[in-house]
Amino acid sequence: MRAFVINEYAHPSKIALTADAPAPTPGAGEVLVDVYSAGLNFFDILQSQGKYQNQPPFPFVLGTELAGRIAADSPIPAGCPFQRGDRVFGAAQGAFGEQVAAKWTQLLPLPENMTYDQGAGLHITWPTSYEALVGRAQLKPGEWVLVTASAGGVGVAAVQLAKALGAKVIAAAGSQEKLDVSMHYGGADFGVNYTKPNWQQEVLKITGGKGVDVIYDPVGLIRDSLKCIAWKGRAIVVGFAAGEIEKLPLNLVLLKNIAIVGIHWGAYTKKEPEHIPSVWKALLDMFASGRVSPVVYPQVFPLEKLADGLGALEQRKTWGKVVARVRDEHTHEKSKL
Ligand SMILES: NC(=O)c1ccc[n+]([C@@H]2O[C@H](COP(=O)([O-])OP(=O)(O)OC[C@H]3O[C@@H](n4cnc5c(N)ncnc54)[C@H](OP(=O)(O)O)[C@@H]3O)[C@@H](O)[C@H]2O)c1
Repeated sequence: MRAFVINEYAHPSKIALTADAPAPTPGAGEVLVDVYSAGLNFFDILQSQGKYQNQPPFPFVLGTELAGRIAADSPIPAGCPFQRGDRVFGAAQGAFGEQVAAKWTQLLPLPENMTYDQGAGLHITWPTSYEALVGRAQLKPGEWVLVTASAGGVGVAAVQLAKALGAKVIAAAGSQEKLDVSMHYGGADFGVNYTKPNWQQEVLKITGGKGVDVIYDPVGLIRDSLKCIAWKGRAIVVGFAAGEIEKLPLNLVLLKNIAIVGIHWGAYTKKEPEHIPSVWKALLDMFASGRVSPVVYPQVFPLEKLADGLGALEQRKTWGKVVARVRDEHTHEKSKL
């Protein structure tokens, strides 16, 4: 099968697609999935260079987020609710290959109103943003939310979710194009370019001097954003896309009675697995009702051009969820008729 195989650590731009990689063998509790689309994440770039917290032994296939179908020759383990041919989305190491062995517990049925491209970027991005806003920040309708990197993968999902939950959203991003995306695809009420000096003043002006109740920050801009947080506000540490782990003087927390909370969605699998289904139930209901909808970057990269997609993501050129097309849905579906 075609797959992006890592035999030694290198930047993805230095790795060629393998045309004849062996198909994976599903282990206990696993199914074989025909991958149609895969979501690109910054951690894929780190993993290919050996710089990520989770490094499989060589050789391994890169990629984690995916959407596809349970393969015609897949085993169906006891308790697995899926049948061969079912459309699914989820996470499994090796998503950048035509087939992947996935734990069935890490898969969910792909909503009927979604394409594989849309489904490929759901599994990490959306529950992260939902749990951050609802579980960690306890967002209430009518509150002000500031989302940084508001056109990025998790950012634009957070903008949509905050709006759907009845909040007033100020999008903050690094260019006018990304602010336009945040308003058009996210539904943000206001946009602020955070590359401009004193952008926090603009946020204070928009909120009538009060400041925002919730800050959702995947960039590493908590300290800067606290200049425009409201009394008793909550700031959510989502990530450090700017590359540095922020440090914070704690007097800033005390001065306005604020709370700083973190979100590590991946850790729920080990720490609080019983909580995960309720998050997905809420999200799938919102997708089904059309209140929120995944935003896919318009340039979908064929598997052969995966390194270009990862490069564009790394260079901050993309918005929404960047997706690689592993198989063409229509060609493949027709060939089975
Ligand atoms: N906590 C969790 O459970 C969890 C889950 C998923 C992701 N994350 C983290 O959230 C962060 C964002 O993920 P994502 O999928 O939304 O990524 P993404 O789609 O690549 O978006 C990241 C955005 O960050 C902004 N940014 C600012 N400075 C940057 C820099 N120096 N280099 C690159 N981007 C920069 C860019 O927007 P502008 O151009 O507008 O500045 C960029 O588009 C990552 O750090 C990721 O690890 C955390």
